Amino acid sequence: MEKVISGIRPTGNLHLGNYFGAVKSFVTMQNEYDCMFFIADWHSLTTHPTPENIRQSVRTILSEYLACGIDPEKAPIYVQSDVKPVLELYLYLNMNAYLGELERVTSFKEKARTQPDNVNAGLLTYPTLMAADVLAHKADKVPVGKDQEQNMEMMRLFARRFNRIYNVDFFKEPQSYHFYKDAVKVPGLDGSGKMGKSNGNCIYLCDDEATIRKKVMKAVTDSGPTQLNQEKPEVIQNLFTLLELVSTKDTYDYFNDQYNQMTVRYGDLKKQLAADINAFCAPIRERILEYQSNEDYILRVAKQGAERASESAEKTLREVRQIIGFRA
Ligand code: TRP
Repeated sequence: MEKVISGIRPTGNLHLGNYFGAVKSFVTMQNEYDCMFFIADWHSLTTHPTPENIRQSVRTILSEYLACGIDPEKAPIYVQSDVKPVLELYLYLNMNAYLGELERVTSFKEKARTQPDNVNAGLLTYPTLMAADVLAHKADKVPVGKDQEQNMEMMRLFARRFNRIYNVDFFKEPQSYHFYKDAVKVPGLDGSGKMGKSNGNCIYLCDDEATIRKKVMKAVTDSGPTQLNQEKPEVIQNLFTLLELVSTKDTYDYFNDQYNQMTVRYGDLKKQLAADINAFCAPIRERILEYQSNEDYILRVAKQGAERASESAEKTLREVRQIIGFRA
């Protein structure tokens, strides 16, 4: 079975956009591939989180991903910093990663521009650590968003370069798995095209019913259709896209017909949408709360994940050491 690995950057709670964008694909992939998922807490150090930030986000991510259906028996989930051999590979790869090429990475240039007083070496070598994450397991596929394409190219470059320098056929070039092609782009509630934390237009999977209702009722609309069967402007299309994701086809058709007849009442539509989003989120939310109150279980999952990942990484590293000329 092909090996799949992906890192999760700790960026706060999961929202519907994350769910339909990536998490749902992970849940499907765990049945089709030999998957491992990990929390990229080493990577997160580039932004200097506090120890409490780190501990908290690890707990949050674990409980939310498990609540969404990641099954740790099928797909181990671990914390990056629990798997030390990756760090060793990071060092080896860094010896053959060149300043010029690292400086040319767009996300590095962007960070260097937006946070000029924190252009640290970790930021510069972000792509080498990411390469080590994946190459340590000789994974075949990496599910990533479009924004990670350049990091994936660097990963393949480092793999090829290692093989060439040591004249071996050791690392394979991991391929990007473009789940975003069939992922649904979830619109925001502010009329913008995309639900995203930075836009403040999100519904989080852990939001309670009252919060969901409040957010949906505040969603941007217009003053209503002025022609029969008219095309929907973006703000309205967004609400219909959300209905499509969480409501039944009957509900969608009902409001769609009303829109086409110009009899739609946005207040009713929103009430229904809020109820359906809540019905969708409620079981996930309950599981999140359950996992959060069962820290022992969460820690056990992470520990088992770390054991499996360490075993796999250590096996690769033993060979890497020998290739380089160190004792295995
Ligand atoms: N860079 C990824 C992101 O920002 C997170 C990540 C770290 C990752 N290491 C990885 C993804 C290895 C895939 C494979 O989302």
